[in-house]
Amino acid sequence: RPSLLRTASQHLRRRRDYSSSAAQPERKVAILGAAGGIGQPLALLMKLNPLVSSLSLYDIAGTPGVAADVSHINTPALVKGFMGDDQLAEALQGADVVIIPAGVPRKPGMTRDDLFKINAGIVKGLCTAIAKHCPNALVNMISNPVNSTVPIAAEVFKKAGTFDEKKLFGVTTLDVVRAKTFYAGKANVPVTGVNVPVVGGHAGITILPLFSQATPASNALSHEDLKALTKRTQDGGTEVVEAKAGKGSATLSMAYAGAVFGDACLKGLNGVPDIVECSFVQSTVTDLPFFASKVRLGRNGVEEVMGLGELSAFEKEGLESLKSELMSSIVKGVMFARES
Ligand code: NAD
Ligand code: LMR
Repeated sequence: RPSLLRTASQHLRRRRDYSSSAAQPERKVAILGAAGGIGQPLALLMKLNPLVSSLSLYDIAGTPGVAADVSHINTPALVKGFMGDDQLAEALQGADVVIIPAGVPRKPGMTRDDLFKINAGIVKGLCTAIAKHCPNALVNMISNPVNSTVPIAAEVFKKAGTFDEKKLFGVTTLDVVRAKTFYAGKANVPVTGVNVPVVGGHAGITILPLFSQATPASNALSHEDLKALTKRTQDGGTEVVEAKAGKGSATLSMAYAGAVFGDACLKGLNGVPDIVECSFVQSTVTDLPFFASKVRLGRNGVEEVMGLGELSAFEKEGLESLKSELMSSIVKGVMFARES
């Protein structure tokens, strides 16, 4: 019928308008630590993202080579490499999203908190520059310990008068990626349709996967299975650190997770509706000042920090036992930023 045809053609036209580059806003993404184990594959994945028009690759060394290499890929994003303090301002100028995988990774036997000594200073320096050169950018913090580096970033931004809690994110997407993979394997369901929220923080027991809310639901899993899945998700980073035997921590799966989260931020900025990801953000969901939970992303960053939903008794117990460790990591970050 003519009216149906008209509706269909309007729908197609709207879709074409949305996907055409003319209708899409220019978006600059900066990666700080772009020559590293995560930085390089993340640069590759962001170069493949059609929402990125400009890709700025910054590191203290090695970026000219990475930028030259990635820039030859025949996708629209214009790639530029920046190296050293002198070029940081230009790398950041006009950025919509800044992704930070700068800093040292773990070796076997280390905790993420053992990285604090080196990474806290790196993150503080980079965030000071962000406050100065792109104060409105969404900041995606990957550098560990995330439970402390996000509070450090918040304090740096507060000191500079640029803090906007809607624009600061600890990237916990790798915990979600792992929880989905491990759940799909155990429940024997296709991994592509699986969803599992992961809340709390990003270290050991502070990582709390909510398998009771996993979809599709499975009644094939026993309580022991769920306990084992929880432990494997919490120890996922250590599993990789040990397998790499001194050659660093997760880089490829992290680059994938960072690209998923970066893409979600860009979609939110562009006004795509219903973009929801878990992230470690300023929060009132619990009594802790920062907490990871599902977050709805929009044109200004966080649109809504979503609640935890119904938890199983096992998850409630996990929530109570993570609080003191998470709180002391948060306080450690805040004190470092205030006192240094
Ligand atoms: P890497 O050593 O391979 O790379 C780090 C890069 O940071 C290097 O290229 C280094 O030159 C650069 N760098 C150091 N100081 C810098 C500065 N001041 N400015 C810009 N760049 C600087 O390490 P990696 O494997 O890529 O890991 C990076 C960080 O990400 C580590 O802290 C690691 O623990 C963390 N990580 C987090 C997650 C997560 O889920 N959030 C997952 C994996 C790794
Ligand atoms: C991870 O979860 O893989 C990262 O936080 C890196 C690490 O040190 O485990």
